[in-house]
Amino acid sequence: MKKFNTIKTTILSSMFVCYSGLVSAQSSTTLDVDASSSVAEIAPTMYGIFFEDINFAADGGLYAELIKNRSFEFDSPLMGWEQPKSDRHSYNKNSGIAVPVKYSQQQTNHNFIRVKIKDASGYKLINKGFRGIGVHENENYRLSFLASNDAGGVTHVHFKLVDENGKVLGSSSVKVSKGDWKKYQTEFNSNATVDKASLEITFSGQGDIDLDMISMFPENTWKNRENGMRKDLVQLLADMDPGFLRFPGGCIVEGRTLAERYQWKKTVGPVADREILFNRWNTEFSHRSTPDYFQSFGIGFFEYFQLAEDIGATPLPILSCGIACQFNTGELVPMDQLDPYVQDALDLIEFANGSVDTPWGKVRADMGHPEPFNLKYIGVGNEQWGPDYIERYKVFNDAIKEQYPDIIIVSGSGPFPDGDYYEYGMEQLTKIGAEIIDEHYYKSPEWFRENADRYDSYDRNGPKIFAGEYAAQSVAIASPENENNWECALSEAAFMTGLERNADVVQLTSYAPLMAHTEAWQWTPDLIWFDNLSSYGTPNYYVQKVFATNRGSDLLKVSAKGEKLIGQNDLYASAVKEDSTSEVIVKVVNTASSSKSIKFNIKGVKTGKNAEQIVLASEDLKAMNSIENPKNIAPETTKVNVQKGVQLSPYSVNVFKLKIEK
Ligand code: AHR
Repeated sequence: MKKFNTIKTTILSSMFVCYSGLVSAQSSTTLDVDASSSVAEIAPTMYGIFFEDINFAADGGLYAELIKNRSFEFDSPLMGWEQPKSDRHSYNKNSGIAVPVKYSQQQTNHNFIRVKIKDASGYKLINKGFRGIGVHENENYRLSFLASNDAGGVTHVHFKLVDENGKVLGSSSVKVSKGDWKKYQTEFNSNATVDKASLEITFSGQGDIDLDMISMFPENTWKNRENGMRKDLVQLLADMDPGFLRFPGGCIVEGRTLAERYQWKKTVGPVADREILFNRWNTEFSHRSTPDYFQSFGIGFFEYFQLAEDIGATPLPILSCGIACQFNTGELVPMDQLDPYVQDALDLIEFANGSVDTPWGKVRADMGHPEPFNLKYIGVGNEQWGPDYIERYKVFNDAIKEQYPDIIIVSGSGPFPDGDYYEYGMEQLTKIGAEIIDEHYYKSPEWFRENADRYDSYDRNGPKIFAGEYAAQSVAIASPENENNWECALSEAAFMTGLERNADVVQLTSYAPLMAHTEAWQWTPDLIWFDNLSSYGTPNYYVQKVFATNRGSDLLKVSAKGEKLIGQNDLYASAVKEDSTSEVIVKVVNTASSSKSIKFNIKGVKTGKNAEQIVLASEDLKAMNSIENPKNIAPETTKVNVQKGVQLSPYSVNVFKLKIEK
């Protein structure tokens, strides 16, 4: 049987002595780069993005909606809403009170609120957003709501945006007509930048009025779309030039129970009809409990496909395979009831690629995208393991291949990079002829440095690899003390030279998780952090970015003294050629506390003496970026003369770009 796991040599472990802070002697290493032939084409999908609604990444983050629980569908329907002058045990004759009305048990939204105004001058309904509402000075905000005003006693709804001291930042009033459900819209401008504003709603008139979908968006969203995404966050993603966008997770694909799995069909069509779902990260960690975490699906599958298209990434949706999260209930759908799950996969392909005359292609067209989304990949199961997975995977595989032979199916080897379930999954999936296997590793920084050769021993004729979730954990997996510090990012970079060197086998890679709200996260580390107003890329983000934006078109062989560089003398290296720009690009990671000198010996092409050097470095392995200091560690580009050799700073990631001369 093929040994998938990397065998470590004792020689390798001795290489890391220098890492512990001892200063290594200055020495010069010559890197032999063979540009005379391409080892392999580098897949355009090599560096991508893994998106999951964890850490308030979608609701409260990327999704620009500012009102939490806008349609009163949380388990406690008024969670997120305050009525400071109302008492549910009284008649409230000097104010009023809102109560939830459950009007439907269907697969849609179920509730609205009935606001009973006794004395409008005394009543107020307040929403404080997701850890506050973030607004920017001089920006416009769009407000909308649904109202049914049968009695017609209420004449106006007034909206006021206030800061924490009650100062008014913007306001608007809407006249409501007598009659059945109707959508109302207004907008206002904010006169200040405030990270924790509240929306106060008051009324004129008396009597009952029913309200639903009270929503507020910045006008300034990504591409100025209504129901849009936060511009700063999408920009950070676009700047990575990602090869693919994997969505919607992660464990939320599987759900805590099968009933709570992600069902894409419930996330498309009119936003107000998308049935809200409990987010499994709500209760996952008692030490980071977030009782107000639900999935509104304002970003649903249409929006994910559209985002992928916007940022030039190949869409990679992952679907439930009929097993709930095995870290939670692990519920299995019986094999004779698997059909609806398989049908979801087939229908998704039709939704993405089908003509507008097909039922699901028409849904896409009705949502404003008649052109296909060009789906090429589909993932079956997120992070499943064991025979139950393999049994279900086979059914999906057969059904998808029969109808859509060109669609590439991504399978998974479970949550661990080694051990019996990993070995079992790899063996079985290889036997079935799986095309791409998704591997996950949340390990120590040392593990990343020591496993730069992980894929060197993989079968070149076996399944391709998707390094689908990885991140160095400074303390331990899922520890709330984990940091996005430089040691972790540097170690990931060292490992990534190994991913790149094996680009003939490894065809997709992504860091995980992607995003976290500084006040509402459950899992750390994360690639991008944000609060209600701003966002920043971590050092890990910049490592991903410099690799992705210097991906290259062809893999080249790079060696020193005939050996690949996997940590000898604390150096790691990979090399590529980019045809479109005629460049040889060499990535070199120095994990030593001392600077190093290197020389290039490029064979097969002539390169000039000048090169561009992009450097990410810090002598402080604990250094991090933050909202206050977002670019503490960020790439810097200089011109260098490579003829006499170049310097690598201590603890540095370096990308050298050498122009090929004709
Ligand atoms: O990235 C966080 C979680 O880690 C993902 O949801 C899951 O796939 C993995 O266990």
